[in-house]
Amino acid sequence: MDYAKRAAELKDTILADRHYLHAHAELPFEEKETTAYLVSELEKIGIPVQRFDDYTGCIATIKGGRPGGKTVLLRADIDALPIQEKSGVACSSQNPGVMHACGHDCHASMLLGAARMLWESKDELCGTVKLLFQAAEEAFIGSHYYVDKGYLEGIDAAMGMHVSATAPSGTFAVRDGALLASCDNFKITVHGVSAHGSAPQFSKDAIVAASAILLNLQTIVSRANDPLNSLVVTVGTIKAGSQFNIITDKAVMEGTVRCYTKEARQMVEGVMRRIVENTAAANGCTAEVEYNYLEPSVRNDDLALNETARESFRTLYGEEVLVETEKATGSEDFSYIMEHIPCSLFVFIGCYDEATGSVHAVHNEKFRINEEILPRGAAGYARFAADYLEKAAGGENA
Ligand code: NI
Repeated sequence: MDYAKRAAELKDTILADRHYLHAHAELPFEEKETTAYLVSELEKIGIPVQRFDDYTGCIATIKGGRPGGKTVLLRADIDALPIQEKSGVACSSQNPGVMHACGHDCHASMLLGAARMLWESKDELCGTVKLLFQAAEEAFIGSHYYVDKGYLEGIDAAMGMHVSATAPSGTFAVRDGALLASCDNFKITVHGVSAHGSAPQFSKDAIVAASAILLNLQTIVSRANDPLNSLVVTVGTIKAGSQFNIITDKAVMEGTVRCYTKEARQMVEGVMRRIVENTAAANGCTAEVEYNYLEPSVRNDDLALNETARESFRTLYGEEVLVETEKATGSEDFSYIMEHIPCSLFVFIGCYDEATGSVHAVHNEKFRINEEILPRGAAGYARFAADYLEKAAGGENA
């Protein structure tokens, strides 16, 4: 199938899907209307779709008609953010305080567009395509359900796609190696002894100990880390004390850690525990660390698969459609799926466009996109799946 041509023909349908999803934005784990719409559209087309009694999102399956035993997964996330929309677009969210400000409505409509085309061209496909419409990406752990429950067993390769508010509209960015950072969080609780603010000699001041811990944590990046590795350690909250003349016995700090390798994540946890426990002790206090590994980093380490994707996008829209992108310290829970399916990649489709006012960052209340990119994204998904299966059947990318 000529996916670029067919996607252009399906533009009105893809945009209508996007308008519905955008207007009915729903928070993570609450994507009920969104899931119902996607399931209903997929079933109208005739595509078998699996939904879940205890979870939102769905998985559609398209079996190809030509020989080839591989299965490729295409993934779009479907959830929105707790933001009051001020984009001014006609299809603005009808749910107060909830907005598709990260483009997940675009991802879902592009994947639905791909589903329409792949179903029409199924006789040409050399294997199986699964389409995951994934819940709760913004909750950091939305992808875990499908992996942990075994719904992604037997999949050989996977691709996720996200709009990029910095890349030019309609371009594709496929970056080799590290692309997005891991995202972990921590909670440090310091315990001391309270006393009157005028009599510190009777206290073990939890605020002073927490302050010393906060400063010492800076040495994880400046002293413990290899300077060639990007690393962020941020304390985002400190909660302590009740009144100006009371020395408090408890302080709680929470923060996040971003980096690009498993080794760096483990290093940070180990050094943090050492600093926290010993700095607390030096101040006569005790402290504990709760450290949660949320999302691994997104790494496009299968270079052959990256090349397959580049070729697909190039075939569709020419060499100039491919752009470079830097790695970023944001995160994305597709990484959990990538750990489960090592032959996988995550790509960006640009949506920055001054002419249509698509200039705001994701997670901004004015975020909007140039909708011309939607058929391109749909074609990109579909072409990649078809090309991967074709190559795998011929012994490449196997
Ligand atoms: Ni997003």
